[in-house]
Amino acid sequence: MDSLLIKGGVPLHGDVQISGAKNAVLPIMAATLLTAERCVIRNVPDLSDVKFMGRILESLGCTVKFEGDTLTVQAHRIKGHGDYDLIRKMRGSICILGPLLGRLRKADVSQPGGCVIGTRPIDLHLKGLRALGAKIVIEEGYVRAKAPRLTGTEIFLGGRSGPTVLGTANVMSAAVLAEGVTIIESAACEPEVSDLAHFLNSMGAKIQGAGSPTVTITGVKELHGAEHEVIPDRIEAATFAIAAAMTNGEITINGARPEHLNAVIDKLREAGVKLERRGPALVVKRGGVLKPVDVTTLPYAGFPTDVQAQMMALMCLTPGISIITERIFESRFGHVAELGRLGADISIEGPSAIVKGGKRLSGAPVMASDLRASAALVIAGLTAKGTTQVNRIYHLDRGYEKIDAKLKQLGGRIERIKET
Ligand code: EPZ
Repeated sequence: MDSLLIKGGVPLHGDVQISGAKNAVLPIMAATLLTAERCVIRNVPDLSDVKFMGRILESLGCTVKFEGDTLTVQAHRIKGHGDYDLIRKMRGSICILGPLLGRLRKADVSQPGGCVIGTRPIDLHLKGLRALGAKIVIEEGYVRAKAPRLTGTEIFLGGRSGPTVLGTANVMSAAVLAEGVTIIESAACEPEVSDLAHFLNSMGAKIQGAGSPTVTITGVKELHGAEHEVIPDRIEAATFAIAAAMTNGEITINGARPEHLNAVIDKLREAGVKLERRGPALVVKRGGVLKPVDVTTLPYAGFPTDVQAQMMALMCLTPGISIITERIFESRFGHVAELGRLGADISIEGPSAIVKGGKRLSGAPVMASDLRASAALVIAGLTAKGTTQVNRIYHLDRGYEKIDAKLKQLGGRIERIKET
């Protein structure tokens, strides 16, 4: 397994281009199953999760072609079950369930496994699809669904931790071809859900209210092919902004949508980071001494759980006591022990991590556990004294396009070591 070797202490300077959003492109790729016509998707990030989803679509019978950041998919003749091994390996593949039910009225997908950040249930996905008329059984680790008819209805999709992003995507993607009107209450409001709705509407769907808690979908008979440009990755942008603040550098983030980052920008400003919009770009630098902050992760437009680990890394450098509370996932503190190996002083009290910051970190070998924890370790390594080796960086490659090359271009001393 590859690892990254990072020599800390160099402030980042220069421009970085943000790639397309992983969490937008995966449900959009799944939604191409809803038509037999060709779909062209642009600004597709080069990520292992995206390539994986491409292989899943091929196993369902689609033709899939990647040319640079443009993906062409045609689900001309497809089957309702794919390569289980493939589907089982990637949690995000659950988002093919809704489109397969919408197009074929049947779907057999492997139950997504849990992961290091939590059990990742799909009860809300199943509740919504059953409400539309699907008969779903879970047997031998597979989700087997059949829906002779899909009928629009009212569905409350809120769970114990609030809305579900991929659950909203699944229900929306089935309801577009249901008979009648579906109203989803307590829908997820993430920009990635709005981007999916934008793509579905360009295919001829009739969706209103996406991005708000109430989404109304008027079913249509069939959908046609479409072209779409994926929104930029707000989590990648937040990660680079925090890296600039941590290394006491100054970077210009190009291609991001600052309006998708309001909660992160607000919290970073409270922490003493200067963020300035220059047209579509965002210029980030430390505005003086960093200040400790309290952060609680919430559904959008609150502070994103996918930026929690990176914010914790910043607070490790910040003199004082910061409290970071994780309200979305039940065990998303895998990075705490690894940051501790770099000398961070963090203790966990239930859903909160108490960070006693201010001491300079010192490099050490650390283990990546999940995608965002890996990013936190990389940016911590950029500021630590000496060398940090981040192992198992396949986690990183799932969700960050060429992060080592982009950081190197900003002056970071970072080398990828290929496992021999
Ligand atoms: C999406 O996961 C993202 N992944 C996650 O990003 C992100 O952290 C998460 O949304 C929250 O924003 C993709 O879009 C591919 P949820 P998703 O359903 O949809 C509970 C990353 O690092 N829940 O919104 O799977 C669940 O346990 C990844 O890029 C139920 O209880 O997350 C969690 O506590 C990590 N029942 C909360 O809801 C359900 O049926 C939010 O989960 C579904 C979810």
